[in-house]
Amino acid sequence: MTVVPETGPPILEVRNLLTGFKTERGWVTAVDSISLSIQAGRTLGLVGESGCGKSVTGYSLMRLISPPGRIVAGEVLLEGRDLLLLSEREMRQKRGGQIAMVFQEPMTSLDPLYMVQDPLLETLAIHRGLRGAAARKEAVSLLEQVAIPGAAGRLTSYPHQFSGGMRQRILIATALAGKPRVLVADEPTTALDVTVQAQILALLRQLQVETGTAVLLITHNLGVVAENCHDVAVMYAGRIVEVAPVKSLFAKPSHPYTQGLLAAIPGPLTAPRTPLPAIPGTVPSLHNLPSGCRFRNRCALAASRCAEEVPVLREISPGHSVACHFVD
Ligand SMILES: Nc1ncnc2c1ncn2[C@@H]1O[C@H](COP(=O)(O)OP(=O)(O)OP(=O)(O)O)[C@@H](O)[C@H]1O
Ligand SMILES: [Mg+2]
Repeated sequence: MTVVPETGPPILEVRNLLTGFKTERGWVTAVDSISLSIQAGRTLGLVGESGCGKSVTGYSLMRLISPPGRIVAGEVLLEGRDLLLLSEREMRQKRGGQIAMVFQEPMTSLDPLYMVQDPLLETLAIHRGLRGAAARKEAVSLLEQVAIPGAAGRLTSYPHQFSGGMRQRILIATALAGKPRVLVADEPTTALDVTVQAQILALLRQLQVETGTAVLLITHNLGVVAENCHDVAVMYAGRIVEVAPVKSLFAKPSHPYTQGLLAAIPGPLTAPRTPLPAIPGTVPSLHNLPSGCRFRNRCALAASRCAEEVPVLREISPGHSVACHFVD
């Protein structure tokens, strides 16, 4: 087993990615010029409230945004090569092999008409050159790794013959089958119970140590972030408002939004039945975004400057950047 060091140039580097949708009420920008990078063997957590653009970011990296959606601008560099410049044919060769995604909805992402082994064997053939008995053996091993009981006998089963949690695990096995350099895992364990969730996250970490895969872990669970990520990016209304090494973020959350998110998690010292502080107000609609800082309508610090000037990410300590006018 080779252990890949967690250093060196980023495997994935996203620069100023902008993705939007044409809707009946006009154009909306769901992901607004975000940049992020992940080195070999590292996991970046992407967190933020429902609708902030996490999944659209994941789909954009996979180039799976289809009309009425469009990636308008930016670069998605995988080992230095911009995926956004590839032909659809070239992209198909990357997808599943170099970059793979565990989709958020386990129910809709497995085709009911295909046996479990079909996408697995296809990925193993295309991306790893495995066929016949060798491919079946590897498929069984992948299903065993994600704790599918009696894996050898289940290759020819159909998705409806599995529970929701098992389907989620089959999706994870399929995403891992091509030994991707980059794995986008969109809420990969939300449908699973806690013990299996821990197993799956441990499996992802093990894969990372062996192969140096860079993981983008999309989750709303800050506990999962604390335990499984090296770095974390906090997204609000399509923009990244804070990015930091995990320890630094939990020790010194610096954007008022991040502070609100962290305050809303019960800690070991929280007394029973104490109401947790909630962030006032609601996430703005993409059709009606406030000018300047998008968080300002919910922010206790907001001043006139926040309406006039978009705060940009500024580094406050190594690797820790915050987009707030009042960070100091
Ligand atoms: N096909 C589409 N057409 C129009 N708007 C879309 C489309 N897909 C996504 N959006 C919008 O883009 C925004 C971001 O959605 P996204 O699915 O990325 O959110 P999310 O952060 O993954 O939320 P959740 O935590 O609920 O999964 C939302 O406002 C959503 O309504
Ligand atoms: Mg989502």
